[in-house]
Amino acid sequence: MKNLPLGDLSLEIFLSEYWQKKPLLIRNALPGLVPPIAADELAGLACEECVESRLVIRDGVSDRWDMTHGPFTEETFSSLPDKHWTLLVQAVDHWVPAAAEFLTQFHFIPSWRIDDLMISYSSDGGGVGPHYDNYDVFLVQGSGRRKWQVGGRFDSTSPRRADTPVMILTDWTPEQEWILEPGDMLYIPPCVGHSGIAMGNDCMTCSVGFRAPSHSEILRGFAEYVGETLSDEVRYSDADLVAQNHAGALTPEALENVHQIVRQHLEDNDVLTDWFGRFITAQKYPDEGDATPTIQLEDLRAHITAGGMLQRNEGSKFVFHERDHELFLFADGHQFRCSQEQIDLVKVLCADLTVKIGRNIPSESNLRLFLDLLNQGSLYLPE
Ligand code: SIN
Ligand code: CO
Repeated sequence: MKNLPLGDLSLEIFLSEYWQKKPLLIRNALPGLVPPIAADELAGLACEECVESRLVIRDGVSDRWDMTHGPFTEETFSSLPDKHWTLLVQAVDHWVPAAAEFLTQFHFIPSWRIDDLMISYSSDGGGVGPHYDNYDVFLVQGSGRRKWQVGGRFDSTSPRRADTPVMILTDWTPEQEWILEPGDMLYIPPCVGHSGIAMGNDCMTCSVGFRAPSHSEILRGFAEYVGETLSDEVRYSDADLVAQNHAGALTPEALENVHQIVRQHLEDNDVLTDWFGRFITAQKYPDEGDATPTIQLEDLRAHITAGGMLQRNEGSKFVFHERDHELFLFADGHQFRCSQEQIDLVKVLCADLTVKIGRNIPSESNLRLFLDLLNQGSLYLPE
């Protein structure tokens, strides 16, 4: 594994003492960090139709908060006040290869747990106010300085200002405070209150956000997946029915029958894996990007013979799963059953953004896999 951005801390200590437990500041976690995007490019992204962005502005006198959603225009940026604004752009890794590369430094946590890289850019005093997030976040200072205050645990019942479009916790007392300089990183577990205020202009923060599906999403998603595979003819049955005292009674035996149906379908680990692999790799923005071109086997062979590489679509998610000598690759909501000989390739696909092949034509099964991934848009042929 590359050098981890954990300073002197070992991964084991980080996981056992901090991950999902308590905040941690790591000074100079990413020495010499060059932000993966320049401020003007970030503003440019926020003007794109398909990019999710927000502008949060606080009136320093009235303490009124305003939030508008992108896409923005040049006019938006030329008419901003001098102070107290923050531009936040979601999923920069989907659009900017350097941002996707930046995220690979966080692969000390399983990559399927990583959601996206959000980047904010603030003027002096800019921030989004005291709030909590439902997920873990690494806040990396990209440029300028930001004061972070952290403290308390919150949930959906915690008091918040009713008059603002942004979540502003009202009952919040910071317990710790740090000023982050470029390359410093702050880890915040889910539900921990935090607030960052830019100390001067040109304050860029890169937020590595994690994904933790809610129990509701898991249950609904899995039950629907299983339900769709079942014919309408597979039904509740009670050939063992015995006379009961009252026709209106719902008996423990009937409920046990129902429970048995639920167990029978929901306790199948293989089906659960098939569903979860698809679910967790499904694209965040399914409609994003250009239409996928159809690539023929011959075009692919020619590309490889010419020394061409394959590139992972920056917005694509890949994971693999091995069970009982079987190997499965999941990419963008699709499952591929692979052979054990493909394990090295599958591991490269799940770790690297660029797949270097060399001039030797890969095996037929690897070519087929490349072709399927290319034609569903999970890979592309770089120029
Ligand atoms: C920011 O970058 O200003 C906000 C990030 C966060 O609080 O999660
Ligand atoms: Co936050």
